[in-house]
Amino acid sequence: MAKNTVTITDNRNGNSLELPIQQGTAGPPVVDIRGLYPELGLFTLDPGYKSTAACTSRITFIDGEKGILLYRGYPIEQLAEQSNFTETAYLLLKGELPTQEELDGFNGLIRKHSMVHEQLLHLYQGFRRDAHPMAIMVGVVGALSAFYHDELNIHDQQDRERFAVRLLGKVATIAAASYKHALGQPFVYPDNSLDYAGNLLKMLFGVPAEKYEVNPILSKALDKILILHADHEQNASTSTVRLAGSTGANPFAAISAGIGALWGPLHGGANEAVLAMLAEIGDVKQVPKFIKRAKSPDDPFRLMGFGHRVYRNHDPRARVLREEAKKVLEALGRLEDPRFKLALELERIALEDEYFIEKKLYPNVDFYSGIIESAMGIPTNMFTVMFALSRCVGWIAQWKEMMVDPDLVIGRPRQLYEGAGPRDYLSIEQR
Ligand code: SDX
Repeated sequence: MAKNTVTITDNRNGNSLELPIQQGTAGPPVVDIRGLYPELGLFTLDPGYKSTAACTSRITFIDGEKGILLYRGYPIEQLAEQSNFTETAYLLLKGELPTQEELDGFNGLIRKHSMVHEQLLHLYQGFRRDAHPMAIMVGVVGALSAFYHDELNIHDQQDRERFAVRLLGKVATIAAASYKHALGQPFVYPDNSLDYAGNLLKMLFGVPAEKYEVNPILSKALDKILILHADHEQNASTSTVRLAGSTGANPFAAISAGIGALWGPLHGGANEAVLAMLAEIGDVKQVPKFIKRAKSPDDPFRLMGFGHRVYRNHDPRARVLREEAKKVLEALGRLEDPRFKLALELERIALEDEYFIEKKLYPNVDFYSGIIESAMGIPTNMFTVMFALSRCVGWIAQWKEMMVDPDLVIGRPRQLYEGAGPRDYLSIEQR
């Protein structure tokens, strides 16, 4: 019997099948079950895909037990400390760190695509001023597929590269415009003399009537936040982009589907939910009551920003963001921010509680990001927009990887059917 296999035996009829085990560079090996249905007539059932690898990938690696996150093999801590967002974007998209000349060329391309078609800006008028900016992002990013469709050949490598820089250049402009729309302020056009984070800050907070000076502390913090959120393996929104893209759909539409998935409070919407939770807790003295609620099986309340499907240890991004929060708040003279102190106390108490220890629940990327963004003046309902803006890099990289994957087929899961068996139609008189 070959050693790199598992044997599945159907004990109902004695039929068995050897399935190959594949070991990647790191992480758990996989059983290739493609032969299971054709040979044994069996599906697998895995709600939430907790034991399922949907694809092979070379982009991001997570070791949930050890709390390790690598972008193309580089530890997230090193990239957050030493790299910048567009360099990290280049790494995720191309697989290697760029030379200075490659990085300059990449930055130039992104800047070249930072403006959007004026007609696209008219779309914002269709949204109420109080529309959630994630609803605007879903609509406006999706609408890019109306501007770039006929000449976009997804099977052409150059077209895919141009799609990547187009979206990366425009998504920051679209995101900032969703905030300006809410304020009733004029859109601020991109300033190509600034780096990515600085330009984003200016488009968010600049006004035509005033000169805008980028605060280097805020720009550095925002750049770090963008690095930390850029990709994260096959999470719900990335899997959404891959599934939508596997049909051959316009990639702007596939990314729009990913934005919709990210919006959920269990996923990228958690950062907004953390601030709402901190506001609800209000005071450190209330923490034990909320910890008790989070532990109760009868109470739907969960500690937002805690827990993770993959990490059974600290989310390395949360560790970086906790330190960054201290730096930004100190620099802004707001280290006494009650929400930050409350978050630190909530984390301390939770990590000492046997429920959180036993279930291996630690703060995730969303626990501290909102506190930093709030201190920077970014409103709570824009937190997930910042997440989506950054994650566009990961979604594009994963989509591009899928488009050249020799195993690419349209994604079409099956089911375990438990519905009614065949039956004849009854006229209404017979029912
Ligand atoms: C992101 O996948 C990714 O990589 C996502 C992400 C990315 O970069 O793309 O990392 C970004 O989405 C981070 C997660 C943000 N979401 C939150 O902070 C929401 C709060 N967290 C939970 O809802 C939950 O932890 C999830 C959704 C993140 C993970 O859910 P799982 O993997 O389905 O785990 P689970 O719900 O089965 O929880 C296991 C147990 C359960 O208890 P039992 O039913 O087994 O008794 O732990 C409990 C849960 O009730 N639990 C929590 C909890 N999270 C899990 N209890 C209290 N508070 C929590 N936050």
